Amino acid sequence: MLKKLIRKNEKTISKDMNDRKAKAQQEQLPNHIAIIMDGNGRWAKKRTLPRIAGHYEGMKIVKKITRFANELGIKTLTLYAFSTENWKRPKLEVDFLMRLPEEFLGTYLPELIEQNVRVNMMGNIESLPEHTKRAVTNAMNQTANNDGLLLNFALNYGSRDEIVQAVQKIANEVQEGKITADSISEKLLDSYLMTKDLTEPDLLIRTSGEVRLSNFMLWQLAYTELWFTDTLWPDFDESSLLEAIESFQTRNRRYGGLKGEEIN
Ligand code: FPP
Repeated sequence: MLKKLIRKNEKTISKDMNDRKAKAQQEQLPNHIAIIMDGNGRWAKKRTLPRIAGHYEGMKIVKKITRFANELGIKTLTLYAFSTENWKRPKLEVDFLMRLPEEFLGTYLPELIEQNVRVNMMGNIESLPEHTKRAVTNAMNQTANNDGLLLNFALNYGSRDEIVQAVQKIANEVQEGKITADSISEKLLDSYLMTKDLTEPDLLIRTSGEVRLSNFMLWQLAYTELWFTDTLWPDFDESSLLEAIESFQTRNRRYGGLKGEEIN
C-alpha cells in the first residue's frame, strides 16, 4: 500500500516535471546559461562533513544539470568551477578541487561523448596542475567535433584577469602597428576575451543566497538576466533549473531600449 502510494507520488512528480519541461521548451529558452555554483562548504557543514564532501556532492550535481540542460536544448552551459581567487583556500581543499575535473571526466566522459556534448575550458590553463590540465585537454580533444551542448568550465578563471590580458594583447598590437588605437571597439575587445567564440550568457544563476558576481564574466554579463536562489549547489536539481528558466521567460529584455507598445 505504502509502496503503491510512493510510486503514484513519484509518477505525479515526474509528470509535473515533464509538463514544465515541455512548456519551457515551447517558449524562448536561454541559449547560454552561466552558473556560479556556490554553497558546497555550507552544505557539508550542515551535515558536519568536511568541506570537500560538499565539493564532491557538487560535482554530482554538475552531471545531473549537464544532462538536463542538454535534454532541454540549452546551447551553452558555463560553470564557475574554480576562480583565480580560490587558490587562497587551504591546500587540501585546492588539491581536492583540482582532482575533480579528472574524477568527473574519468567517469562521465563516455556519456558526454555519447550525448554529443562538447567540453571547453576558459581560464588560465597553464598554471593548473599537470593532471588537471591533462584531463581537461583530453576531454576537449575527444569532444571537439561534437555539436550538442557546449559545456564550458570556468577553471582558474577571473574576469578582471581576463580583461587585463585582453587589454595587454591589444596594447601590444597597437605598439606593433597591427591595429590603430581608433579601431578599438567593444567588438574588438570582445574578440580578445576567452569567450570570443561564445554568445553572451542570457541567464546567470547563483546558488546559496549570495547576491554578487565574484569576478565572474563581468564584461559578458552586461545584459544578462540574473537569478539568485537560497538553494545550496549540492541541493540544486532539475526543478531548480526549470524554476530559473521559467523566471527568465517572464523577463522583458530591452537592452536599454524600448519594446513596441512602450514607445508612445
Ligand atoms: C563554491 O562553494 C564552490 C567552489 C569554489 C567549487 C565549485 C566546484 C564544484 C561544484 C564541482 C566542480 C566540478 C567539476 C567537474 C569541475 P563554497 O566552497 O565557497 O561554499 P561555501 O560558500 O558554502 O563555503
